[in-house]
Amino acid sequence: MDDVLFNELKNRDETVDTKIIMITSGKGGVGKSFIAVNLAVLLAKNDKSVLLFDADVGFANGEILLGVTPRNTLKDYLMEKRELKDIVYPTKYGVWLLSGGTDVRDIIAFKGKRKDDFIGDFMKLTENMDYIIIDTGIGYMDDLRGLYEAVDLLILVITQEPTSLMNTYTLAKLLALRGIEPEIHMIMNMVRNVGGARRTMEKFTMVLERFAGIEVSEQYIMKYDRSVKDSIIKQTPLVELSKHSQPSLCLHRLGESILSMEIKRGKIGFIEKMRSLLGIGR
Ligand SMILES: Nc1ncnc2c1ncn2[C@@H]1O[C@H](COP(=O)(O)OP(=O)(O)OP(=O)(O)O)[C@@H](O)[C@H]1O
Ligand SMILES: [Mg+2]
Repeated sequence: MDDVLFNELKNRDETVDTKIIMITSGKGGVGKSFIAVNLAVLLAKNDKSVLLFDADVGFANGEILLGVTPRNTLKDYLMEKRELKDIVYPTKYGVWLLSGGTDVRDIIAFKGKRKDDFIGDFMKLTENMDYIIIDTGIGYMDDLRGLYEAVDLLILVITQEPTSLMNTYTLAKLLALRGIEPEIHMIMNMVRNVGGARRTMEKFTMVLERFAGIEVSEQYIMKYDRSVKDSIIKQTPLVELSKHSQPSLCLHRLGESILSMEIKRGKIGFIEKMRSLLGIGR
């Protein structure tokens, strides 16, 4: 990253309220990274400043999906090998990319001077960002509690598979038990039969509401579609490549909803959110 970002931020409205969106699932390989990257690109196309925090080590999303190789990561910053400005990468889609470089739990568990500096540095970097999108490769664990508490919108990605539903139920139940209540949008991905998926989704959200005490405010059905694989092979976000495929239309609806969303404010301020996010002072 060079001075471009800082100049961009300097000229922005000081009153911007950064919204933190986290994409998670109960089970791996359900399309979280694909959705995170495309959502980030869509929001950036709407003139929003977006930081995509790739906290998933399983898959080099930035490299594969945004055509950027983040050589330096948050881990290098924490180890005092790099400055923060050196670990945030611009992409040609207008999204800024920050790679964790290690499991997000290692970052939260990290102790050292740099961790305290991080708040100030990260604040400078992101205070005027409109959205921080966090792509995680993992479900709920107690050491990630702060991360979940900082989130304004949680996007839960599920599939129709019983294991996905079971694990998502467990995740939702744990969040409810811990009193963590972000706004939740749910995406059922890789759907082949829309009618069946809708019925499953309806029943599942009802079960979540009744037995886990979790309310899902919006539901989306995303079909299994060849265009998704094509976009990955071509290293071009789907929303750029194939605007009319069903997954792309679904992402557009999600993006529009997020753009028009009023996030419940006043729960915790931005500094608290960041502290919480990184497990500082807890
Ligand atoms: N709607 C879809 N149609 C077809 N293929 C899809 C769809 N959504 C995702 N995929 C494919 O599924 C695979 C897994 O997607 P992705 O890596 O985004 O999942 P993930 O949840 O981030 O996985 P992990 O848990 O490993 O991080 C990718 O190859 C992606 O191209
Ligand atoms: Mg992933």
